[in-house]
Amino acid sequence: MGDPGSIPGSFAYLTVKDRSPQILTKAIDTLHRHKSEFFEKHGEKGLEAEKKAISLLSKLRNELQTDKPIVPLVEKFVDTDIWNQYLEYQQSLLNESDGKPRWFLSPWLFVECYMYRRIHEAIIQSPPIDDFDIFKELKDQNFFESQESVIALCTHLQELRKTIEDLDENQLKNEFFKILQISLWGNKCDLSLSGGEHISQKTNIMNSLEDLKPFILVNDMDRLWSLLSNYKKTREKESVTRVDIVLDNSGFELITDLVLAEFLLSSKLATKIHFYGKTIPWFVSDTTLHDFNWIIKQLKHSNNKWVSQCGVDWEDHIKTGRWVYLDHIFWTLPHDFSTMSQVAPDLHAALQKAHLIFFKGDLNYRKLTGDRRWEFTIPFHEALSGFHPAPLCSIRTLKAEVQVGLQPGQGEQLTASEPNWLTTGKYGVFQFDGPL
Ligand code: F6P
Ligand code: MG
Repeated sequence: MGDPGSIPGSFAYLTVKDRSPQILTKAIDTLHRHKSEFFEKHGEKGLEAEKKAISLLSKLRNELQTDKPIVPLVEKFVDTDIWNQYLEYQQSLLNESDGKPRWFLSPWLFVECYMYRRIHEAIIQSPPIDDFDIFKELKDQNFFESQESVIALCTHLQELRKTIEDLDENQLKNEFFKILQISLWGNKCDLSLSGGEHISQKTNIMNSLEDLKPFILVNDMDRLWSLLSNYKKTREKESVTRVDIVLDNSGFELITDLVLAEFLLSSKLATKIHFYGKTIPWFVSDTTLHDFNWIIKQLKHSNNKWVSQCGVDWEDHIKTGRWVYLDHIFWTLPHDFSTMSQVAPDLHAALQKAHLIFFKGDLNYRKLTGDRRWEFTIPFHEALSGFHPAPLCSIRTLKAEVQVGLQPGQGEQLTASEPNWLTTGKYGVFQFDGPL
């Protein structure tokens, strides 16, 4: 994508200039609002910690706004060395006259990831509030505000499960496509795009699927169906079909992903699901283990019987090992996925055992494609630059200026009619890479 400063007015530039400081200001505000909670929990030490975290975040905001050099991480954490090596690598890409990597003169993907990692550093440097998730409130709010859609979705799912065995091939395929589209549009509910303002799913998404179809720019749903239905037909009795879902946002989007996972099991298109989440709070709304468990518990205790049924079933899937939640530091590093086999060979080897991998969301798409300004028509396979652990599919609404695999002229036509089509989250893709 290049560095934010090189193209003033680009989305990358506006992110670093406006959106990132806004996110930091909101984070500072959140700490302020939790002051009494910290005091109740930890007494004076809690207050001191709050002050320290706020001053570290203010310093970070100032560094960003005044385009200071990007400094190494200081607090020892599992990934500190890898981050600092990456920073050295960024330095090595510069000419001597350029000096140090700076906020506006480093690749956007790196700068954005670095900001979230520094937010985490500010928190872990401030014990005893070092396990505080500064974005938790926003994520939870997104879930509560999406209740109507959550109820509609869980009801649909539970009703569907009653008759799923009786559906013919075509009916099952149509249901699969519906559930996939719900998961796609669920990705609009990312809270980083709005600078941390709420974006929730207030209306029942199920009623909008037909109207939203024209906004799917690449639609490989048929290929997903062929792959999974073929596994189902040819699977021997005790053998496993594993689908991995690299999660994105918590709140409503996570519900849509869990619904997809349940559908895959109920329809026998898969027999096991691995979910991957983030080890630290990330890009405001990304899912951590705590969010994952919290949401399932919320569902379980809902007054709505279908919603609570989902919670009960899903807890059971976790207990029985049909659903497995995993995290790995690689997902919160700045590296693109083409480097995974060297940087995180264990994770790469784990993904190789999947029969299909879904990558949810925009940030994953940027990391899949190396966040480069590819020609719109370059094949997805090529943009993956050698990352092919297993058949994979990106399910993503467009929020950044990278898109590949379009038809000739498609991108240009969109640019002419809607100059911001790449960044508003209005368009989406199901983009598959795997056997034909
Ligand atoms: O592109 C805008 C942006 O906020 C990026 O910062 C980030 O790539 C993305 O959107 C987050 O979206 P998602 O939650 O879909 O990964
Ligand atoms: Mg996200």
